[in-house]
Amino acid sequence: MSSIASPSLASKARRPLLKSAFHGLLAGTALSMLGLSPVTAQAQGFPDKPISLVVPFAAGGPTDVVARTLAVSMTKTLGQSVMVENKTGAGGTIAATHVARSAPNGYTLLIHHNGMSTAPTLYRKLAYDPLKDFEYVGQVVDVPMTMLGRKDLPPQNLGELVTYVKSHKDKINLANAGLGAVSHLCGMLFQQAVGTELTTVPFQGTAPAMTALMGGQVDILCDQTTQTLPQIKAERVKLYGVTTMERIAALPDTPTLDESGLKGFQMVVWHGIYAPKGTPSDVVAKLTAALQTALKDPGVVQRISDLGAVIVPEAKQTPAGLHDWLKSEIDRLGPLIRKAGVYAD
Ligand code: MLT
Repeated sequence: MSSIASPSLASKARRPLLKSAFHGLLAGTALSMLGLSPVTAQAQGFPDKPISLVVPFAAGGPTDVVARTLAVSMTKTLGQSVMVENKTGAGGTIAATHVARSAPNGYTLLIHHNGMSTAPTLYRKLAYDPLKDFEYVGQVVDVPMTMLGRKDLPPQNLGELVTYVKSHKDKINLANAGLGAVSHLCGMLFQQAVGTELTTVPFQGTAPAMTALMGGQVDILCDQTTQTLPQIKAERVKLYGVTTMERIAALPDTPTLDESGLKGFQMVVWHGIYAPKGTPSDVVAKLTAALQTALKDPGVVQRISDLGAVIVPEAKQTPAGLHDWLKSEIDRLGPLIRKAGVYAD
């Protein structure tokens, strides 16, 4: 049977299209008589329904915590609910694919971290191009990571952990949130620095990985302070160090991995908000303004600081700030990942 529609069906199907194109033309003419471009009119009505902010990892984890903190403030500014939606799997690439394929109208956004810059090299069959398939709202916060062990892991400091890991490598489980997750990258750097390969256990986010660490089902986890600080303070896990080059204000007595002997060990997590390619520029501008307002909101500023994270400078809280940073990170990390030979098919 032929798959070509009959002429009568084809012309019936074409009519509504012609009609709506004609209405669009009339609307455009009316708007230009008022001195407004059709694009401006989109932003004027925006938003008139809830916005979905897609988090690529499990609820309750570090990305989710940042997203929910922002969502409360952006909801106030935009006058519509910004609802956090968790779409987990494949190190964040399932969520990024979903947003890249969503309608470009500002109602579906993605918050993602360094994984946006590593996925194009880590995943041979990536369904999106981070530099072609998105509009950029702005960068958000930078977050240090912490190297943790289960509470009853014998080593008492990083030096002891390195020795222990080397002599127990077949028995140690390293948790992460999948290929492309920052917990995965940090764990890879740790194994390289120690010179040992460990068994890794992937989860849908570091929220379930942290539950497994506290339950003693896994042994070590490198994770962001936005999730780990409360567990460290409640002594539910053992802390071995922070992954920044300088000590952090939230944990002033905790040595960096660098100062404890893993020279040059550095891992900082950065976050950005993205919209599908083709989202009108003035809708993106409204979202950027709401993001910038959130990052000055005293409640958000306090919460971010309590979580050990740092709000990025205003020049980075912009479309160009995010795009340029993302591009420089893809260029920087691509060759390193290719050299390490880590891939997913
Ligand atoms: C999360 O939100 O679960 C983390 O950001 C996952 C990760 O990248 O380690």
